Amino acid sequence: MAANVLVTGGAGYIGSHACKALAEAGYTPVTLDNLVHGHRWAVRWGPFVRGDVADEPLVRGVLREHRIEAVIHFAGYGYVGESMLAPGKYFQNNVSGSIALLNAMRAENANCLVFSSTCATYGVPQNVPIDEDHPQHPVNPYGESKLFVERMLGWFGAAHGLRHAALRYFNAAGADADGDTGEDHDPETHLIPLAIDAALGTRPPVAIFGTDYPTPDGTAVRDYIHVTDLAAAHVEALRRLQAGAANMRLNLGTGRGHSVRDVIRAIEEVGGRPIPVTEASRRPGDPAMLVAASGRAATSLGWTPRHSDLRNIIATAWRWHSSQRARTRAAAVAD
Ligand code: UFG
Repeated sequence: MAANVLVTGGAGYIGSHACKALAEAGYTPVTLDNLVHGHRWAVRWGPFVRGDVADEPLVRGVLREHRIEAVIHFAGYGYVGESMLAPGKYFQNNVSGSIALLNAMRAENANCLVFSSTCATYGVPQNVPIDEDHPQHPVNPYGESKLFVERMLGWFGAAHGLRHAALRYFNAAGADADGDTGEDHDPETHLIPLAIDAALGTRPPVAIFGTDYPTPDGTAVRDYIHVTDLAAAHVEALRRLQAGAANMRLNLGTGRGHSVRDVIRAIEEVGGRPIPVTEASRRPGDPAMLVAASGRAATSLGWTPRHSDLRNIIATAWRWHSSQRARTRAAAVAD
């Protein structure tokens, strides 16, 4: 029988790609999602439970009913800007929700967890590329909430034998190559979907946040990693943890940086349309450059990005936003 894996936040962007990858690897993903930001149409690879990860009795029941021993935990809020304005919302949801999940796992003897963490736990980098031993001094409540959970995982391990992989993503981007799922945020704040929509004329011109950074072209540099590569890393981390591997804290990035202008130019080339832009001031809290040192994930997981060439990221995102998203949503409604 295929092993059941609980995927909290499995109806979200990265979570739904992970569910597809789990199913392809022979697991059955059981999605728990409250649909605050996730989408029912994105749950396509296993059972769905609508509910909140903070509901400990519910989580215990799901773990029991589906005989689950391992969890991939995506559920949480992810808007850096919003977290600056509403820190309580972020600590409540991201930290309290994780406490409830960990308590439920302990009670039901589920002892492997892959956790969705972030490069935002590092804060403003002291050096680039950023490796996993870089000091973690988050500069926003979102990053702080994720760091708090990373720390809890260690303590639950020491006390109760929980084993974990904390995966620190850089900039997740792109969409499933088959168009089965993709990015669908509301509100959308990320550069690539906003710039694609600006090219398609479905949103206003994209604002370039900051043209005076100490980078080659003055715009901020990020390490964009394809969501399909992220999904594969989760499956591999889970497999290794279940086979007895030690706890892991790993960056998931490519080690390559692209500026905002690089990204916009690449979208224009892939889409064959000009992108109207405006120049705006820096967005508060945005560091000049975030690029991963990615060697440890290669060593620990045997994982290297295979889909994260910027052109491929953008080509898959372009297909998703220009046509596949509407088709996939419509097909789900018709089901
Ligand atoms: N940007 C613009 N204009 C926009 C949107 C973004 O110029 O309209 C710029 C940003 O300033 C940044 C780059 O494009 O330099 C990428 O921005 P995104 O909003 O796409 O992504 P972030 O780097 O802000 O966010 C990502 C993840 C977060 C994570 C954060 C860590 O989405 O979850 O990296 O810094 F916390």
